[in-house]
Amino acid sequence: MDSILVTGNGPLSGTIPIAGAKNACLTLMPATLLSDEPLTLTNAPRLSDIRTMTELLSSLGAEVQSLQGGQVLTMSSHDLTSQRADYDIVRKMRASILVLGPLLARFGQAQVSLPGGCAIGARPVDLHLKALEAMGAELDLRDGYVHAKAPGGLKGGVVEFPFVSVGATENALMAATLAKGTTVLKYAAREPEIVDLASCLRKMGAQIDGDGTDTITIQGVDRLHGATHPVVTDRIELGTYMLAPAICGGEVECLGGRIDLVGAFCEKLDAAGISVEETPTGLKVARKNGRIRAVDVTTEPYPGFPTDLQAQFMALMCTADGTSVLEETIFENRFMHAPELIRMGANIDVHGGHATVTGVERLKGAPVMATDLRASVSLILAGLAAEGETIVNRVYHLDRGYERVEEKLRNVGARIERVTGQ
Ligand code: EPZ
Repeated sequence: MDSILVTGNGPLSGTIPIAGAKNACLTLMPATLLSDEPLTLTNAPRLSDIRTMTELLSSLGAEVQSLQGGQVLTMSSHDLTSQRADYDIVRKMRASILVLGPLLARFGQAQVSLPGGCAIGARPVDLHLKALEAMGAELDLRDGYVHAKAPGGLKGGVVEFPFVSVGATENALMAATLAKGTTVLKYAAREPEIVDLASCLRKMGAQIDGDGTDTITIQGVDRLHGATHPVVTDRIELGTYMLAPAICGGEVECLGGRIDLVGAFCEKLDAAGISVEETPTGLKVARKNGRIRAVDVTTEPYPGFPTDLQAQFMALMCTADGTSVLEETIFENRFMHAPELIRMGANIDVHGGHATVTGVERLKGAPVMATDLRASVSLILAGLAAEGETIVNRVYHLDRGYERVEEKLRNVGARIERVTGQ
């Protein structure tokens, strides 16, 4: 397994290109199953999760061509050979469940393995299933698979989510595009990745209104045609790299960054003493003079502070002046980076869904363990300004969501390298 070596160095300066959004691409790719015509995605990120989704679609008989080093994906499900998503692929990535809605909508049947939970929580899919049942799907859970049928096709219905679920909203939205009649999704997720999916589906001929609000209305159509669509900028990668100059000092421009994607996050950066300036090519981030100020954060569905940036923001708070309380309301076990940061000298108390961080002058490099995607990168951020060397192990987690992280950070002055493991 590979490791990443980071040695605390001085302030950073330069530019970091931000890639297309992993979490948009992972729902845009299954959308190809809704049409027998080709769907092409540009600005696709080059990540192991994208390769896993490619493997899953190919196992169904879809053709997926990866061009321009993986930045362009041309997919066709004209000659699908199976509607069964096997456990051996689904277990690798929870987002695999997003093939269920499209398969059911287009073919009237699907067998999809239930995804396991993961390090950050049980992550059930009951809301996905309830939404499809509200559109007339007949679901039978057995042998660890969802056996889904919609003999006469899906029918429009009203789906009332009890709480916000990004994935369930995406599954229901895709399924509803081919359902007979009108579907209304209430208490729908409002994330930019939902808006990006809706925009792509409209290019394919879908009739969708209200995406980006908590109520989405879809008028089903008989078929969808092909399209070409650029994957939206990754707001989580953006926020992650904005924290690099915040933690190390200096000034970095995140190319392709859009302030509308990270509104709540930028409010907290401003309160902590970080300046963010919009430029014609992205977002320029610098630490204002003086020490970082401690800031409280509560994670919420969009447009609130993203849970996917909580671990990274905690790394910033570890050397802030004062005490900050980070409340995680989305997942039940998303503080696994805390014990690793404590190994680096951080002062953190975790109680249930709250982490209280009391800033220290400086962290000290140490060998640490990555446990999930966002925890991995928070340890790298902490290592950028720590005294001495930090070795982050199990970086396969990292490669799921960050392309060439050591190259992007080295290009702005970080002392960081990847050590290929056994
Ligand atoms: C998406 O996961 C993202 N993944 C996650 O990013 C992100 O953290 C999450 O949304 C919240 O923003 C992708 O888009 C591939 P949810 P998703 O359904 O859709 C519970 C990353 O680091 N829930 O909004 O799985 C669930 O357990 C990843 O890139 C149910 O109980 O998240 C969680 O506690 C991590 N039943 C909460 O709802 C369900 O049927 C929110 O989950 C579905 C979800």
